[in-house]
Amino acid sequence: MHHSRRPYIHGMSAHNIPSRKQEHVNLAAQQNVGFVAKTNGLERYEFEYNALPELDLADVNTATTFLDMPIELPLMISGMTGGYADAERINAQLADAAQVVGIPICVGSMRQAITDASLHATYTVVREHAPSVPVIANIGAAQIKRTNGRQALGDALRMVDLLQADALTVHINALQELIQPEGEPSFAGVLNGIADLVVACPVPIIVKEVGAGISPAVAQRLLDVGVRIIDVAGAGGTSWAGIEILRHPDATSVQHLWDVGIPTAECVQGCASLMQHTPFTLIASGGITNGTHVALSIALGAHCTAAARPFLLAVMEGGTEAVIALLNTWELHVRQWMFLSGSPTIDALRTAHLRKT
Ligand SMILES: Cc1cc2nc3c(=O)[nH]c(=O)nc-3n(C[C@H](O)[C@H](O)[C@H](O)COP(=O)(O)O)c2cc1C
Repeated sequence: MHHSRRPYIHGMSAHNIPSRKQEHVNLAAQQNVGFVAKTNGLERYEFEYNALPELDLADVNTATTFLDMPIELPLMISGMTGGYADAERINAQLADAAQVVGIPICVGSMRQAITDASLHATYTVVREHAPSVPVIANIGAAQIKRTNGRQALGDALRMVDLLQADALTVHINALQELIQPEGEPSFAGVLNGIADLVVACPVPIIVKEVGAGISPAVAQRLLDVGVRIIDVAGAGGTSWAGIEILRHPDATSVQHLWDVGIPTAECVQGCASLMQHTPFTLIASGGITNGTHVALSIALGAHCTAAARPFLLAVMEGGTEAVIALLNTWELHVRQWMFLSGSPTIDALRTAHLRKT
């Protein structure tokens, strides 16, 4: 696990980003980058069996809305890639699947597109291939922090225009930046930057982690500055610490951080309780790997779910068709759980009874 091909220098993140993006995708696709001992926590719940569902399977409807747009299933393809040659193919195939199934899709961090117009197509291909579903732009917290000045906000807004995006996701990834060999673990001014963006951005802001989770306390601070869509991106799926540890020239110095994070179920349950005071849209992600996880997350209080690596693995294995097949399986399983819990709609599923296992 010791790599010596690259010096360990913080603050070199503008250097060679396209190859780093490719390395991330390759590691996520080929290596075991899951949590070691931690799970998403959803195994602690099951639907209370409803022997009287008073419902026909044919009348179950998995459709809902997201960003005020109709979608067929409360599931989004999370932001993963863009910014290097092969990302264009991956994004096109993911977008084709999102369009066919009728679900939202987010692109990967658009940081490179800000400085290199030759990379724009690797992102805009998503809008071209998914013209009628919600398409979401993506930028890192480090890029929009208030200490970076007004130009930074302008850059982020240009990315929204470029993609004709229906929302802008800001990913907050302190753990990843801490471990990433070229990372910039400087997060002072991020919350203020998000506050500025909420005011300046013509489309809604979504704030997400990348697999270590958003606690109820952090969610509350986001709500306090006006954020109204939060994606917990909790622990139990892809470990970004793990991916960066695999890239680290001195892995022993960061190995103990592999499993840092709050399990997704814990994030969702805790954040959902904040809705009593402030209505907002909650997205459950981080280790969502099947339709049962989708259904349980909704019943725990999420409005929508999202997943990243399962769709990357599918697209690498069998392109658009494999992603569509996976989505169809998840949808079937969501439908089964809706029937078994007597929930004709996604709104009803949000109030279905769960029991602790
Ligand atoms: C290859 C890969 C690249 C990713 N790149 C980004 C990114 O650029 N921006 C972002 O917000 N999240 C990124 N993520 C994080 C995912 O959006 C997601 O939050 C995380 O992987 C947890 O979900 P999962 O367990 O379903 O993979 C990436 C994930 C993967 C697997």
